[in-house]
Amino acid sequence: MAIYLDSAATTHLDPEVIKAMNECMNEGYGNPSATHSFGRKAKNKVETARKEIAAHFGAQPSEIIFTSCGTESDNMTIKCAIDDLGVTRIISSEIEHKAVLSTVKILCDDCIDVDYVKVNEFGEVDLNHLEELLANSDKKTLVTLMHANNEIGTLLPMKKVGDLCKTYNAYFHSDTVQTVGHFPLNFEELGVHFAACSAHKIHGPQGVGFLYLNKKIGLNSMLIGGGQERGLRAGTENLIGISGLHKALELSYKHLEQDKARIKELRNYMKKELSSFFGDQVRFNGSETDYLYTVLSVSFPNTENNGLLLFKLDMKGIAVSGGSACNSGANQGSHVIRGIYKNASDYIPIRFSFSKYTTKEEIDTCLKELKELVEIKVSV
Ligand SMILES: Cc1ncc(COP(=O)(O)O)c(C=O)c1O
Repeated sequence: MAIYLDSAATTHLDPEVIKAMNECMNEGYGNPSATHSFGRKAKNKVETARKEIAAHFGAQPSEIIFTSCGTESDNMTIKCAIDDLGVTRIISSEIEHKAVLSTVKILCDDCIDVDYVKVNEFGEVDLNHLEELLANSDKKTLVTLMHANNEIGTLLPMKKVGDLCKTYNAYFHSDTVQTVGHFPLNFEELGVHFAACSAHKIHGPQGVGFLYLNKKIGLNSMLIGGGQERGLRAGTENLIGISGLHKALELSYKHLEQDKARIKELRNYMKKELSSFFGDQVRFNGSETDYLYTVLSVSFPNTENNGLLLFKLDMKGIAVSGGSACNSGANQGSHVIRGIYKNASDYIPIRFSFSKYTTKEEIDTCLKELKELVEIKVSV
């Protein structure tokens, strides 16, 4: 039996999403920019999706820009904030997703300052340090901090960060890729100017997402070409993808409370079982109190055998990630774990991540395998 415990990497498509996309593929092949009836029909689909998606976030339709993925939304924010808004200083953290971290590193040159806010061993941002950094400079600043860390699940107190950004007149971007569809979010109330979404994290298709761009902020398109998305994102809209994203978000928010309760129970059951079997041999990464309920990050002792855990679980048909899926091929360990622990090399981190399709039987099978596979470190 194949067991998928890697839903933070991507989720499998909901059959209702497939149905919506199929309908769109069969009927909706007009180009939304064309003025004839096929084009108008396609345009209508895109605008209905935009309107209904915006409503989930208390936003106006014009604040939703469809993009190809979460990475594009993050890239566009940072690049356009520098190019179009005159941002000359960025405050971020060392444990952001690479879509932000690498973009900041590449785009920031001699003219742009970068400051990294301190995070503690749970991955929680030090708000006092953030305030100090904000108060320290009158340069036009973009704060970019993710809502939920995709590797360890720690949540950012968004409203507090939004309030600080307002006080110090800074722009606030949050990578909300792991939390859109999992938490109610009202970007305006939270003081967020830019937020990112990716459909494939919520049982929608890969290759489509959106950027929330607060209406008070004017940017130019990062891509050069036609005037789609009101001039904010050139390129023909991904009509089929957008119809999948639309349906996936509708389903996520419709069933949010019941899905959340079930997933959280499974996550905490797995944590409890691991804790009672392995005791202090395992370490749970991330916040104990403010966490993303779809993620359980566990560090096992760093032994030669445990170094092969991912591979051994895969051989048993169990799919999990070490850190994040984006890093798993890189074999450099997790920058997040390195960012929160001084003794990061003592641990082998494994991320178990869950969805509405995860069952207790799957968790039990995984636990059984872990009990057999994990090597205990005997202290000498
Ligand atoms: C927090 C976070 N940001 C950004 C991304 C990138 O999203 P996408 O795969 O849509 O480019 C991911 C995906 O792993 C993520 O978890």
